[in-house]
Amino acid sequence: MDKLWTGRFKKALDSEVNDFNSSIRFDSKMAEQDITGSIAHAAMLGKQGIIAAEECTAIQKTLSDILAELQAGTLAIDPAAEDIHSFVEGELTRRIGDTGKKLHTARSRNDQVALDIRLYLREQIDAVFGELKALCETIFTLAEAHKATILPGYTHLQRAQPITFGHHLMAYAMMFLRDMDRLSDCRRRMNQSPLGSCALAGTTFPIDRDYTASLLGFDGVCQNSLDGVSDRDFVVELSADLSVIMMHLSRFSEEIILWCSWEFKFIELDDAYSTGSSIMPQKKNPDIAELVRGKTGRVYGDLMTILTVMKGLPLAYNKDMQEDKEGVFDAVETVLQCLSVFTPMLKTMRVLPQNMKHAADKGFINATDCADYLVTRGLPFRTAYKITGEIVGYCIENGKTLEALTLEEYQSFSEAFDASVYSHIDMAACVAKRTSKGGAAPAAVEAEIQWAKDRLQALCSRQ
Ligand code: ARG
Repeated sequence: MDKLWTGRFKKALDSEVNDFNSSIRFDSKMAEQDITGSIAHAAMLGKQGIIAAEECTAIQKTLSDILAELQAGTLAIDPAAEDIHSFVEGELTRRIGDTGKKLHTARSRNDQVALDIRLYLREQIDAVFGELKALCETIFTLAEAHKATILPGYTHLQRAQPITFGHHLMAYAMMFLRDMDRLSDCRRRMNQSPLGSCALAGTTFPIDRDYTASLLGFDGVCQNSLDGVSDRDFVVELSADLSVIMMHLSRFSEEIILWCSWEFKFIELDDAYSTGSSIMPQKKNPDIAELVRGKTGRVYGDLMTILTVMKGLPLAYNKDMQEDKEGVFDAVETVLQCLSVFTPMLKTMRVLPQNMKHAADKGFINATDCADYLVTRGLPFRTAYKITGEIVGYCIENGKTLEALTLEEYQSFSEAFDASVYSHIDMAACVAKRTSKGGAAPAAVEAEIQWAKDRLQALCSRQ
């Protein structure tokens, strides 16, 4: 296939340089967007009288045929083409000759590629958004089922205070809701059309940029032609948003890995979402969660790639920018792949409330409640804290829990204790009392779930 830029050159490109320069391996993913963009551009050229109406019709029909054949698998993308833009234009010209050669009037590959990436990533954002929605809904169902299932809440990975499993899960729902919000922000900023920026300086032809923008579903046009062709902020922004999603999935994965260890055994993963060991017959490994945690590294790497590619580039287009695509494509695919296995893994896991309760009973996680009790009896919190600390020390030395101490033992530490202490430190009561907004009490968790459901709906209707 001839290069689009043959006129000035006397020799063919060195074949290794040709491979080095080519981007068809990865930008062929944008074939549909490239053709859709070209159909809109042709419509605009026709409307503005820059090409004749019959030429516009012929170009549009042939481009539609090419797209249909690519989708049906009856036309293969030529791996020797320089990039997807060259391939589509070459194929068009091969079919309709000089008319095809008119398509590139008032356009450059620079605004074409900027357009294609925006169109492609816009769709990918919608796909990630949909997966996050499904994940949130799965979390809501689990959280509702476990809004009263007690387990220890941790700080420093040390048992801290009693919470419910529903409350713990909803913390992740909050993260994923923020992720969805970030994605829709990113989509909004991305959704401006660069088409008509041409190579860098706009054009002398009487084009109508707003028309192509509206045909392609954009909210508006990039206001500066240099910026239109050289802006890749949206690639950086999306890569950052995807990195944050992976960070959240990775933290969640880490907890799942801990929870299904024998040391915790708070959950058991379904056989369909676990793997075995080649040598140790007893093993059931949380490979999916580990892989999600591991793949986080590669998505962060993709973010660093685009930030570094862009940092020293003078205006406007530079070939360095061809390196914008592989990283962000990889990041999107990785996130989609992770979400598509993570959600069903969560949905099918078995929750083991007894083991959670057992862990909650063991770690003096009602000690704060014991101190709070003394505060209600008139002691200053600092004094109540110190007395409770001494009581915990006594329990550890004597192999007891706070619930198992006799009233005499309590009173040996402070006269302020009476029999009402037991109902104050009862684990279920400890949780039920944490009714502050956003707190761990089942009633508060219920309100939290309702809030999250409304938020999800608002995010989806805004998208
Ligand atoms: N393959 C190029 C890219 O991905 C397309 C734009 C090429 N423009 C140019 N003037 N060489 O960025």
